[in-house]
Amino acid sequence: MKNHEANRQITHVSKGIPATDGAGVTLTRIIGSPELDMLDPFLLLDSFASDDPNDYIAGFPLHPHRGFETVTYMLAGKMRHEDNTGRSGVIGPGGVQWMTAGRGIIHSEMPEQEEGLLHGFQLWVNLPATEKMSEPHYREYDASEIPIEKREAGAEVRVITGTTEQGTKGPVTDVITTPLYLDVRLMKSSRFTETIPVTHNAFVYVVKGVVAVIGEQLEVEEKVSAGFLGVLGDGNRVELVGLEDETQLLLIAGCRLGEPVARGGPFVMNTRAELTQAVRDYQSGQF
Ligand code: CO
Repeated sequence: MKNHEANRQITHVSKGIPATDGAGVTLTRIIGSPELDMLDPFLLLDSFASDDPNDYIAGFPLHPHRGFETVTYMLAGKMRHEDNTGRSGVIGPGGVQWMTAGRGIIHSEMPEQEEGLLHGFQLWVNLPATEKMSEPHYREYDASEIPIEKREAGAEVRVITGTTEQGTKGPVTDVITTPLYLDVRLMKSSRFTETIPVTHNAFVYVVKGVVAVIGEQLEVEEKVSAGFLGVLGDGNRVELVGLEDETQLLLIAGCRLGEPVARGGPFVMNTRAELTQAVRDYQSGQF
């Protein structure tokens, strides 16, 4: 029996791999790589960060999804999306789009700029079997709608989804895997603790600076630097300390589904037969 009343410690650190996707966008695949195939319910995490238009201008033209959710969070630059339900919009710096593909959506995600820095993330969150064929659903919030909670010693957290210990609630609600998606900013020596349910897998991805993840014994601490993801092990809380000023990280957690996963490009189902059906439905215009 594991002790659940404990700080989560780092069990694995991964840097991700260079990849291209869409029509030729240069990105780093952090989850969904040979080293870290998935972290249930998270199927993929991509980071894109470049001020060279050649790395992003081709964008992600029309493509389908079925069976999971795509979450785009921008730090710099703008992405325009359009989909076959007639929705369209622009996600700017600090904005988030949480799209539940459900039974099927066809969309494009294109940079809304021809030069300058484009920096953001796309996370894929799995859906349980009961929700894979649900109606597509979609929400989008700009930076002004995402609450910023101030903590001690210059620490602050932007709450995209979930509720913090101090009661700040993110605008994205009613997600089936009850995720926590926090953008945490720390100064040197500022400390940040947060409860994470034992039912959830969790990770930190460091955007800038260096963070220490404090384990149960004070001497057990692991550093995670910019560009690295640290998988958090069992426990019910996380304790972080900034080791540099202006450290920034994503703290993301979600409830484990524990279901079989069948992946085929933009479709994620439970069985191969369901993948075959997804391809057939897409090709016959059912999306
Ligand atoms: Co997409």
